[in-house]
Amino acid sequence: MTDVKTSVTTTNLSVNVNKLALLRNSRGRDFPSLTHFAERFLELGVHGITVHPRPDERHVRFADLPVLAGIVRKFPGREFNVEGYPSDDFLQRVIDCQAQQCTLVPDAADQLTSDHGWNLHQHGQWLKARIARLKAHNIRVSLFLDPDPALIELAASTGADRIELYTESYAVAFGTSEQKRVTEQFRLTAQAAQAVGLGVNAGHDLSLHNLSAFLAINGILEVSIGHALMVECIEQGLDSVIRQYLQICAAP
Ligand code: PXP
Repeated sequence: MTDVKTSVTTTNLSVNVNKLALLRNSRGRDFPSLTHFAERFLELGVHGITVHPRPDERHVRFADLPVLAGIVRKFPGREFNVEGYPSDDFLQRVIDCQAQQCTLVPDAADQLTSDHGWNLHQHGQWLKARIARLKAHNIRVSLFLDPDPALIELAASTGADRIELYTESYAVAFGTSEQKRVTEQFRLTAQAAQAVGLGVNAGHDLSLHNLSAFLAINGILEVSIGHALMVECIEQGLDSVIRQYLQICAAP
């Protein structure tokens, strides 16, 4: 297998645009436009765009997939990553849009956000056929996983190319007395994955605040970040936007 980063180089950043879709869906038109923002992120140099369409389409809609995939294709070397529960319909949508990567997540249909990795003891065999179907279409497959080295052998046996470490517990422990212990669990899981040839991605609740310390773990290939990144864009763009509004109001 060749998907393991052996030296310390850059980690790819894939921006999750779900929150922009949520904002768009709260009004009846295409504003904010996902394609506009995806293009802006890619122009700024991010390595990929991630979406997580859920069955109720409350944020990213399935119709967005081919459109966003087309935008990403205009930027050679960048990747479109689609996350979600591998129903037959979901798999077909991912295949149809020819995403570069698909991250399989054990979400219930009505789940607020992803909050656990796969139980591979229960679902490993079931996943195997689904992973093979995606790989037959040259789509790299990653499995959303809790930080537990004991899961790695099972993950490798599914035929997945990568795992995505579910980082909420890291984010919660960050800055507390638990940070070192919890980070070590992630490091051991990443190491075990790399040792059997699985690439390692990570995501959930990563932010400008906690990312750098997480990337002290060797060989993280990609982080996908949405929620905090969007909040940070608002926060850090706030001064400029408010200044412009006040200027207009002062001199209409
Ligand atoms: N990875 C998975 C599987 C997710 O479901 C999400 C949230 O959609 C993320 C990563 C990104 O998490 P966050 O929005 O907290 O950055």
